Amino acid sequence: MNKPLPAQRIDGKSFAAGLVEQLAQEVKDITSHTGLTPGLAVVLVGEDPASGVYVSAKHRQTQACAMHSFVHRLPADTPPAELMALLARLNADAQVNGILVQLPLPAHLDTHAVINAIDPDKDVDGFHILNAGRLATGQEALVPCTPLGCLLLLKDRLGTLAGLNAVVVGKSNIVGKPMAQLLMGEHCTVTVAHSRTRDVAALCRSADILIVAVGRPELIKGDWIKPGAVVIDVGINRVERDGRSRIVGDVAFDEAGHAQAITPVPGGVGPMTIACLLANTITAFKRQHPPVTLQAIAAAQGE
Ligand code: GUN
Repeated sequence: MNKPLPAQRIDGKSFAAGLVEQLAQEVKDITSHTGLTPGLAVVLVGEDPASGVYVSAKHRQTQACAMHSFVHRLPADTPPAELMALLARLNADAQVNGILVQLPLPAHLDTHAVINAIDPDKDVDGFHILNAGRLATGQEALVPCTPLGCLLLLKDRLGTLAGLNAVVVGKSNIVGKPMAQLLMGEHCTVTVAHSRTRDVAALCRSADILIVAVGRPELIKGDWIKPGAVVIDVGINRVERDGRSRIVGDVAFDEAGHAQAITPVPGGVGPMTIACLLANTITAFKRQHPPVTLQAIAAAQGE
């Protein structure tokens, strides 16, 4: 019998680079035709080191795409009213087309209240209750960046997803729940597993598409994966191995050779998240400036 081919690596890094290149061209076109430049505001409250790294990466990539990047770093003990006042200013600022509040927030701040204070049309994270509701009911929404990135990789690999069994491990508002909604939108049969699920291993073995976002290093073992499945690993976990610090995913990558394809960690889903954030910022800009408005701005400039 022929040995099955080893799993292919899904190269999120190069897919994201291609996407960012297209987005940069789109920004160039917008700016040269209208004189306007899409802008993203990122708010970081506190000094969580991982959040600090993510926010710096978002700032760099937004600027690399020739968009305006406004980063607001606030102390950990910022009073709720102060944060709300900043969001109100950003909502009213025409230079700001997208707003993102980095999570997690310090415990004294009410995450839902903060997210819902963002103008839903500037909510490039897609976390506002209106965008979550629009996604759940199949209406046009700003879609959370990480699940959107996963979906782009899946569609690139598989074409249509209709009829496939998808298992999403993890039920967070940031990844698991919106991921399940997106997959239902693609006509998959979707099951969401979580820490109280009985026999997760058996459930995972039923998956044609397996998406894991739990933040537990190498939770998913090789024999939990169906031969030929496509595996998307959202986890980013720092572990100590052989005296060295390493980043691993939620899937035991070295045991997944019988999958059809799998995203590596790092270099899989991670780069897609920021690319989709930039894409959402341009989408938000275009919704705030429909073609007629853009034409009028361009015409006024030509006068
Ligand atoms: N923290 C971890 N992931 C995310 C994300 O996608 N958006 C925000 N705002 N915070 C996060």
